[in-house]
Amino acid sequence: MFARHLSIIFAAAVVIAGAAIVIVGAASPAAADDIEAKVGACGLCHGTDGRPVGPEIPVIWGQKQNFLVKEIHDYRAGDRYNALMAAVAHGIAQEDTRPIGAYFAAKTWPKGTPSSAGPDPSITDKLEQCQACHQPGFLGGDQGPRLAGLNEKYLAKTMDDFANGQRTNNLDMPGFMKALTQDERHAIAKYLAGL
Ligand code: HEC
Ligand code: HEC
Repeated sequence: MFARHLSIIFAAAVVIAGAAIVIVGAASPAAADDIEAKVGACGLCHGTDGRPVGPEIPVIWGQKQNFLVKEIHDYRAGDRYNALMAAVAHGIAQEDTRPIGAYFAAKTWPKGTPSSAGPDPSITDKLEQCQACHQPGFLGGDQGPRLAGLNEKYLAKTMDDFANGQRTNNLDMPGFMKALTQDERHAIAKYLAGL
């Protein structure tokens, strides 16, 4: 546990140092191979093969482009708060957010460990409503991000963040999450992680 925290802190220090360099280079618009250089630090946490290095870090490889762009914008604007991602997002120039989103959206979602267990009966009907936006199979689309195969801990935490008013960067999600009990949210997280 302690070692993991240390490695995250180390990664954050590297990123903040890296961010300063990105800011220095931010004046000129990015050419395509520039993007490759600018996303190098992302792999420290989000993984160099698409698998995040810790359970509370989301998968960004193969995630929907519009969602990725919006989240980077929200971290930069302070509409979504996380200390590490705030530091990272402040190092990304406005004109680079769309190419960075496209870069990660074009990658393949990492192979997970699908579970054959179906959803807990207490959440079956609730899962139906979610798919109007998150799409059948929770694969994501224009109306909402992919949820299938995100880490269980990340899912549980971010759903709790919506329910508790910690994450407010969407109008609908806080209400949907407040309408569930914590046990229901965590059962949903477990199910989605196993898809
Ligand atoms: C020091 C670790 C770290 C680094 C480096 C890092 N991230 Fe993150 N990122 C996180 C964590 C932790 C979260 C989840 C934070 C939260 O709960 O809001 C996150 C969340 C995100 C999200 C939101 C995804 C979602 O499903 O909600 C995006 C998009 C993202 N990061 C993009 C990037 C990009 C692009 C880079 C490189 C420029 C990067 N990150 C570098 C730790 C990091
Ligand atoms: C009306 C459309 C809609 C419905 C219905 C909906 N969502 Fe969402 N959800 C969204 C959108 C849009 C986002 C992205 C919010 C943002 O901009 O960060 C989101 C984000 C999320 C996230 C965070 C993903 C991440 O990577 O950070 C989770 C988890 C989630 N929804 C779970 C659910 C669950 C579970 C249900 C059903 C109980 C549900 N949602 C119903 C639209 C919806």
